[in-house]
Amino acid sequence: MSTIVNTTYNLNHISELAESSTSVLNAVRTKLLEPEPRKIAPQFNSASLAALVNIEKRRINQLAAKENNGLPEGHIPEGSNARHFSLAEALDYVHHFNKRPRRPDNERGRIICTTVFKGGTGKTTSSFCIAQGLTLRGARKVLLLDADPQGTLTQLAGYAPDVDIGDEDTVMPYIYGEQKNLRYAVKKTYWKNLDLIPANISLYAADFYLPARYSKDKSYKFWKALNAGLLDLAKDYDAIIIDCPPSLNYLTFNMIFSADGIVMPIPPNSVDFASSTQFWRLVHQMYQSISEVDAEAADKKYDFISVVPSRVKPKEMSQLITGWMGKAFGEHLTTINIPESTAVDNFSFGLMTVYDQTKAIGSNAAFRKYKDRMDELVDHVDTRLMRAWGLNWEMENEY
Ligand SMILES: Nc1ncnc2c1ncn2[C@@H]1O[C@H](COP(=O)(O)OP(=O)(O)OP(=O)(O)O)[C@@H](O)[C@H]1O
Ligand SMILES: [Mg+2]
Repeated sequence: MSTIVNTTYNLNHISELAESSTSVLNAVRTKLLEPEPRKIAPQFNSASLAALVNIEKRRINQLAAKENNGLPEGHIPEGSNARHFSLAEALDYVHHFNKRPRRPDNERGRIICTTVFKGGTGKTTSSFCIAQGLTLRGARKVLLLDADPQGTLTQLAGYAPDVDIGDEDTVMPYIYGEQKNLRYAVKKTYWKNLDLIPANISLYAADFYLPARYSKDKSYKFWKALNAGLLDLAKDYDAIIIDCPPSLNYLTFNMIFSADGIVMPIPPNSVDFASSTQFWRLVHQMYQSISEVDAEAADKKYDFISVVPSRVKPKEMSQLITGWMGKAFGEHLTTINIPESTAVDNFSFGLMTVYDQTKAIGSNAAFRKYKDRMDELVDHVDTRLMRAWGLNWEMENEY
C-alpha cells in the first residue's frame, strides 16, 4: 500500500522557485536574442521595397542606380547579386513616393490605446504592428508606450524588461511626481522613427499608489496621472500607441482616459465576447463616478472606438459570435478579421512580428493572409488619424 506524503511549501521554496525560473529565463533569452543588439530591423530587397512603395521592381533598380536623385542606392551584400536596402533607406523611398499627407503643424498626434481585460487576445501584437505599419506608410514618428508590467511590448521593441529596464525608465517616476514630464522615459528602438516608453514589473505599484494617494487627498485626480505628460509628447509624434495589460486597473483607466482612440481586439468566442461587454460597462461606471467631480471627464470624446475580431478561427462558431459582436458593437466592429495564424507562431518565437519579416517563414499563403489583414488594420488606424486631423484623404480601400 502506498502512503500519501503530505508536502507543504514555505516561503523559502517560493523564493527558490523565483530564483531558478529567472536564471533559466535569462539563459534562454540570451540564446534567443543573441547577438546584441537584441533585434535588428529587416532588410528589403528590390522586390519587397517595390511592394512597399507600390511601384515596379524595375523602377526601384533604375532609381537606385541613378546618381544624385536623392534616393539611396542600397547595397549588394556579399554572396548576393541583388540590391538590398536598410529600413532607413526603404523609408526614404516611402517618404518620396507616398502621397500620404503629413500631420498639419497645428495638430498634435493622436493617442491610441489597445485594451480589453481578457488576456492573450492579440493586444500587444496589434499595438506593435500598428506602430510599425504606420511608420512603413510614412508616419514621421510614432511612440509606443508599454503600460503592462509584463513588458511584452518592451520585448518586441528589443529590450528585456528585467535586464535592460530600470524602474526609473518607466512611467512610474512621472506618476510619483519625481519628473516634470515624460520625456526622460523615451528610448530609441531598433526600428527607425519608432520610440518606446518601456515597462517593467514596477508598474504594478501604480495600482497601490494611485488609490492610496487619492484616499489621502480627495482632490487628487487619479485618472489624470499621465494625461498632461502624454499630451505634451503628442506634440512630437504622429501617434502614441499604448499597450494595456489584460485588466481594467487604475493604470489602464488612465490610458483610456487620455486616449483619443481605442482599439479592442477580441477573439470571436463566447467567453471573450462576454468579457468585452463587461469591460464597457465598467468603463462607463468609472466615467460616471469621476464625471461628478471632473467636467473634462463628463465631456470626454473619442475620435474612434474600434472592435477588431482577432485570432479568428475558421469555424462556424466564430461566424455566429462575430454576428453577435456586430449586433453588440454596430459600426464599431471592423470588417477586418485577424486570423489565428501559424505564421505568427513561426516568427513570434524570435519575438518578431509580421513586419519584422519581408518574406514568409513557413507557408507563404498563411503569411500573406495574415499580413494582408494586419495591413488593413494599420490602414484603418491611419485613416482615423487623417480624419482626426481634418485631412480629406482617399485611400484605395477604406477599412
Ligand atoms: N493572430 C494570431 N494567430 C496566432 N497566434 C497569435 C495571433 N495573435 C497573437 N498570437 C500569439 O498569442 C499570444 C498572445 O498574443 P499577444 O501578446 O499579442 O496578446 P495580448 O492580448 O497582448 O496578451 P496579454 O493579455 O497577456 O497582454 C502570443 O504568443 C502571440 O504570438
Ligand atoms: Mg499584451
